[in-house]
Amino acid sequence: MNKLYCRAFQKSFYLVSKVMPYRQPERIEGANCLDLLPARIKKDGLETVLLVTDPGLVSFGYIQPFVEKCEAADLRVVVYDQTVPNPTITNIEEAKALYDGHQCQGIIAFGGGSPMDCAKGVAALVAKPGKTIPQLKGVMKIRKEMPPFYAIPTTAGTGSEATVAAVVTNSETHEKYALMDPVLIPHVAVLDPMLTVKLPPFVTATTGMDALTHAVEAYIGKSNTKETIEASRKAVKIIFNDLYEAYTNPTNVEARANMQEASYLAGFAFTRAFVGNVHAIAHTLGGFYQVPHGLANAVLLPYVLDFYGETVYESLAELADLVHLTEGSQSNKQKAEAFIAAIRQMNEQMAIPTKLEGIVNRDIPEMVKRALKEANPLYPVPKIMNASEMHYIYQMVKAD
Ligand SMILES: NC(=O)c1ccc[n+]([C@@H]2O[C@H](COP(=O)([O-])OP(=O)(O)OC[C@H]3O[C@@H](n4cnc5c(N)ncnc54)[C@H](O)[C@@H]3O)[C@@H](O)[C@H]2O)c1
Ligand SMILES: [Fe+2]
Repeated sequence: MNKLYCRAFQKSFYLVSKVMPYRQPERIEGANCLDLLPARIKKDGLETVLLVTDPGLVSFGYIQPFVEKCEAADLRVVVYDQTVPNPTITNIEEAKALYDGHQCQGIIAFGGGSPMDCAKGVAALVAKPGKTIPQLKGVMKIRKEMPPFYAIPTTAGTGSEATVAAVVTNSETHEKYALMDPVLIPHVAVLDPMLTVKLPPFVTATTGMDALTHAVEAYIGKSNTKETIEASRKAVKIIFNDLYEAYTNPTNVEARANMQEASYLAGFAFTRAFVGNVHAIAHTLGGFYQVPHGLANAVLLPYVLDFYGETVYESLAELADLVHLTEGSQSNKQKAEAFIAAIRQMNEQMAIPTKLEGIVNRDIPEMVKRALKEANPLYPVPKIMNASEMHYIYQMVKAD
């Protein structure tokens, strides 16, 4: 795609986005704040809600006690617990059938990005009766208020509790794509760090690197606002301080709470300033091979930043200064390289590999096509990739 056209598109979108109805969720936060949610939902006048989650969260024992608390508050909860990682259109349709069958009036999303996005998919279908998920793909296709939506993130993470996006997978075509509309920003976000203390270390690591990728891709992009810059910087700072601590010391509630904050802030940042090529490529790997989203991002991030070269020296040097990786006398190039090296080091310390298993050469041309289609013209990346450059990134991350 013509690069000038991409830049013109991004510039117009940036101007339009200034008047778009972004909102921030009401936040309920702090250890055990989940207990406050049933009464909060009752305040909205609801009697029956759909709760969307996944089998892991049920087996870890998070769901049943919460459902009981809702019932004690006279709130009926219908549970859909079959969401898979990289949630599918089938998941959304099954959950929507429950929503309709029980005449639900609102939605609770309880889990990582997968249940949250599945729940947002249901909300989109409720807002647009008669439409299918593929028809709502892309930007601003919903434009109708969704039912009351309460997001309870249990990873830190995707930031979906703060974002315009629902990322879904078509399991027949292996396409993974986003629905993006400000109406998909949840009404209430419950940030309870106690829900993340049992996250396995590797999931802590990879989901934390997803949050870092959001913050970095938003920061180096060309569509920042004062608020997104501030949010990205805060998120990067927290992640450098607290992710490794949460990884090595899972029950450190303060580190967990900080990571939830970072995830939320990074989600807030990219919802206006967008992600970039790391995400476009990661989505294809999720769609084709179910590579966990955070893992794909963590592995890709340093390679893509290397590729951007001098276009990101200044912005990455600022981030390197922010997290005290550098000294004043160093050049921006040296500082940017130090920042990328620190990302590689974080990955290594948390046992995240440098390459991804399972990528098949014959799939790469189709993945390149899809990733380019996702990234261009929408994502205001520092350097627009062409097909051969993107091909090179797939080769770089592919394990032998
Ligand atoms: N909507 C957005 O803005 C946005 C942003 C980034 C990513 N995403 C999407 O989110 C999805 C990934 O979400 P994710 O990385 O949070 O992972 P996930 O929701 O797929 O969860 C991964 C695994 O962790 C388990 N898990 C979750 N919370 C747990 C807890 N507290 N304790 C123990 N186990 C727990 C789950 O059961 C699951 O097996 C991808 O589809 C990705 O594309 C969406
Ligand atoms: Fe992400």
